[in-house]
Amino acid sequence: MNLNIALLPGDGIGPEITTEAVKVLNKIGKIYNHNFNFSEALIGGIAYDKKQSSLPIETLELCKNSDAVLLGAVGGPKWDDVDGDKRPEAGLLKIRKELNLFANIRPAYMYTALKDSCPLKDEIIKDGFNICIVRELTGGIYFGDKGKCNNMDGIEYAYDTEHYNTSEIIRIARIAFETARKRNKIVTSIDKQNVLETSRLWRKTVEYLAKEYPDITLKHMLVDNAAMQLICNPHQFDVVLTSNMFGDILSDEASVLTGSIGMLPSASLSDYNFGLYEPSHGSAPDIAGKNIANPLATILSASMMLKYSFGLIKEADCIETAVQKVLDKGYRTADIMSDGNTLVSTQEMGQLVIDNLV
Ligand code: IPM
Ligand code: MG
Repeated sequence: MNLNIALLPGDGIGPEITTEAVKVLNKIGKIYNHNFNFSEALIGGIAYDKKQSSLPIETLELCKNSDAVLLGAVGGPKWDDVDGDKRPEAGLLKIRKELNLFANIRPAYMYTALKDSCPLKDEIIKDGFNICIVRELTGGIYFGDKGKCNNMDGIEYAYDTEHYNTSEIIRIARIAFETARKRNKIVTSIDKQNVLETSRLWRKTVEYLAKEYPDITLKHMLVDNAAMQLICNPHQFDVVLTSNMFGDILSDEASVLTGSIGMLPSASLSDYNFGLYEPSHGSAPDIAGKNIANPLATILSASMMLKYSFGLIKEADCIETAVQKVLDKGYRTADIMSDGNTLVSTQEMGQLVIDNLV
């Protein structure tokens, strides 16, 4: 296959980790006879610095004309004082919205080799767990009316609002039910229906759609309880369906249970299999440029790209197996390092995955 990939390295560790993922994809291309053409463009803080926009129009155009997008990370303290709508993160939100990437899939899978890096006790971990978070990505409080003002009394005010409509809820819930069908057939839908109107609509709508999926067990859970249950009994979860904000929070929590946030990939999908693939973690400015960041979440995101956007299942499996082998052999970046293992750099980790392909 001949495939065009828009490459958006972004800020912080973004360039280092995407470089490794590109190398892995190029090697896969050689092995399986595909041509991956990468075109690089700016997003985030670096785009703001160079083009005065965290999502320049040419970046958006490139993405629209590509078969898929691979992104590193955006943001950093350098842009802390930039206005909300110009911030690096605003560029990421805009690209998600413009490309209609409403479905964010975040698989939190614990590699047994990384048991030692999991903060939970052995009796809770047992033989590991495998959770798939399906997060709504283009609605909710991230995209509702927001503002700030100075009142007559001299006090500063700010507000954000959460909106959802039934069609937004149905389309993301459908992805969750379909995902569960290929897994253990349980959907846990997260809300805060005891307080929020949007959550009551969420629950009612998910229940309505569930009638089309009698083979799937649907459970509802309040978000505060879900945050606790993830730690006490992660095994009860299969597919976790969430709004934008709740998914942001719970996916960080789920990722660290798998060993490190540096391990969690993600796919952000629109209809028709178009997708943007990025690690779930941020730009980690404190370790940027030191060649110590974990590139595995980005490499695994590239593998999700092969699977979801290109239908290249054996190629994707090949990457996942290579990652598994490298971890089984005891190679670790600093974030997942533990006694008796071998510490490697970002570049060494990328090379190890390449060496273990096939
Ligand atoms: C994520 C990130 C983003 C989000 C930020 C960088 C805007 O935390 O992808 O989880 O909140 O969605
Ligand atoms: Mg987040």
